[in-house]
Amino acid sequence: MSLTNQSVLEALHEITAPGSSQSLVEAGTIRDLEIDGSSVRLALAVQVVQPSDVEELRTRIETALQAMDEVSEVELQIQPMMPMASAPPHPEPEPTTWADKIPGIKRVVAVASGKGGVGKSTVSANLAHALAVAGHAVGLLDADIYGPSQQLMMGATGDPMGDEEGGIYPVEAPGGVKVMSFGFLVDADQPVIWRGPMLQKALEQFFGDVRWGELDYLIVDLPPGTGDVALTLCQNVPLAGILIVTTPQDVALIDARKSLHMFTKLETRVLGIVENMSGFECPECGHVEHVFGTGGGAKTAEELELPLLGSVPLDPAVVTGGDHGTPVVLERPESPSARAFTEIADKVAKATK
Ligand SMILES: Nc1ncnc2c1ncn2[C@@H]1O[C@H](COP(=O)(O)OP(=O)(O)OP(=O)(O)O)[C@@H](O)[C@H]1O
Ligand SMILES: [Mg+2]
Repeated sequence: MSLTNQSVLEALHEITAPGSSQSLVEAGTIRDLEIDGSSVRLALAVQVVQPSDVEELRTRIETALQAMDEVSEVELQIQPMMPMASAPPHPEPEPTTWADKIPGIKRVVAVASGKGGVGKSTVSANLAHALAVAGHAVGLLDADIYGPSQQLMMGATGDPMGDEEGGIYPVEAPGGVKVMSFGFLVDADQPVIWRGPMLQKALEQFFGDVRWGELDYLIVDLPPGTGDVALTLCQNVPLAGILIVTTPQDVALIDARKSLHMFTKLETRVLGIVENMSGFECPECGHVEHVFGTGGGAKTAEELELPLLGSVPLDPAVVTGGDHGTPVVLERPESPSARAFTEIADKVAKATK
């Protein structure tokens, strides 16, 4: 009988993934399987609990395959992925501040808002891409513990891979931006309660254990409001600056002021205000409808003595771009919204030179 993919998978049927009751096949660990005559080439990516899991698994797989009469040769590649929580500690002494852990990152720029749903994640994703298009090396950290969305918005599919020293590699999105997200750590359908120390640890790992490499910018998409994540970040990471996103209504503007006051108290530099969803240009007749009022962002920026970094119109292409994982800056660079994002990126780059 000749060797087939099916017969190889059946031979592996009994072998479970480390720390799991699922078989290797059920756990989705098999990345590649090639058969050439009587040779089997198999590549796996497995979550490992401890480094010795890899060798144990290798022995079990090789034994199972070599027991097949049709198999003469087995070539096995196992890529270990470390779950973040159980990543082994660094062998070298821990640096004292987070800043020491990120020597390769030149600037960290965070995107905040007083209110939810005003477009922080959209601004972060497009800002990251616009900076990358301008030739910068860019990373994007989705630090929204309540509703991480950057995997979807950036089209960053796949899981981050780990190495045996406890390092984690961010996922590279189309366009070259490196993405890391709370969304990679948690099941999207399960509510997660992050308590203070756990949250602090997870955030610290994003700086200490994620192998960002050399970056000109790390953009951090914050959860809405003035909660723990923003506070922890400002206290531990030297930020090049923060952008505050708002929509033009008065209620959003009140919250934007609150958030500005928090950052000022923390002595974090606020680069300026981004007014999002500022008006809808009818594609048929060109009439601009100011759905959420007009001039609010400019007025608030003036009152708070901050620059208005840009006004992004309401644009259905922004929504579809985000939903398809290709932000509008990449998908429709000539559209008014993409041009607004690019202008914001230029101003951010100039202000943080
Ligand atoms: N300029 C725009 N035009 C049209 N739709 C937009 C615009 N900006 C954002 N949106 C849409 O509004 C919704 C909310 O945006 P987004 O998720 O970026 O907000 P957020 O501030 O990050 O929200 P949250 O506080 O929940 O994290 C998304 O569906 C997004 O596509
Ligand atoms: Mg968001």
